[in-house]
Amino acid sequence: LLVSAVALTPLGAWAADKTVGFSQIGSESGWRAAETTVTKEQATERGINLKFADAQQKQENQIKALRGFIAQGVDAILLAPVVATGWDSVLEEAQDAEIPVILLDRKVDAPDDLYMTAVTSDTVYEGEVAGKWLVDTVAGKDCSVVELQGTTGSSPAIDRKAGFEKAIADASNIKIVRSQTGDFTRAQGKVVMESFLKAEGAENICALYAHNDDMAVGAIQAIKEAGAEPGKDILVVAIDAVPDMHLAIAKGEANATVELTPNMAGPAFDILDAFWADGTLPEKWVQTESKLFTAEDDNQAIYDMKKGLGY
Ligand code: AHR
Repeated sequence: LLVSAVALTPLGAWAADKTVGFSQIGSESGWRAAETTVTKEQATERGINLKFADAQQKQENQIKALRGFIAQGVDAILLAPVVATGWDSVLEEAQDAEIPVILLDRKVDAPDDLYMTAVTSDTVYEGEVAGKWLVDTVAGKDCSVVELQGTTGSSPAIDRKAGFEKAIADASNIKIVRSQTGDFTRAQGKVVMESFLKAEGAENICALYAHNDDMAVGAIQAIKEAGAEPGKDILVVAIDAVPDMHLAIAKGEANATVELTPNMAGPAFDILDAFWADGTLPEKWVQTESKLFTAEDDNQAIYDMKKGLGY
């Protein structure tokens, strides 16, 4: 089941009067903030009472929030897990309490009978799309790549690295020369890019691959401050397709991004509607679309459109 970023969501007939707990990671990126906004909007439209808990990037806070939701007897839980491991016990507690848990945008390393389903993109594929774009763009020329990884231990950081490496595996002209976490934030993206530029020299870096757009936008600033031209001297490819990245591509300061829809909650609430209506169980993975945007798209128009939607 592939969910489009623009799929319309029917108003839930069964969701009204239900209480759903949402354990969100935090607000590390523009994408994350958009996901929070969309989830709240989707809940309001459907008459769902959403209990929102911001974990400030800490797994322990997420586990506490989940235990709180279980104690309150919520009807379902949405979990965006900050890291992949360490969830078994609390998921077992939810299962014992017969509260369905739906994972949003990230996966966990736990038996899949401990959650109802995961609504996520194919994060390995996202890395592959970014890597393939670079292979095609440099067309055989030597290219030293620096990589900004997402949060250590998170499923998208692990998968986006693996996917990119897979895509460039047969391209002996492309080498990752530096790779470090920037924790999915704009500020860390800038700091780590500054260290890459210092260590390698801007003239020796051909491309930046960032696991999200916010880190890329921070890195673009670092590249400019180092006196080089992002998007030209150093190619920039990332993931999310947030408005600021479309703007950077429109200005010629970035080259490509892979879209991740912030609407993970719409499909999740549809699944809960069906379950509450007649017990229908979803597949274990509901995959959202991953679309590549490049300078060939009208990025200024896309920026305006996404901004207009409050993204
Ligand atoms: O899990 C999705 C990732 O988390 C997004 O790509 C990133 O921006 C966010 O912080």
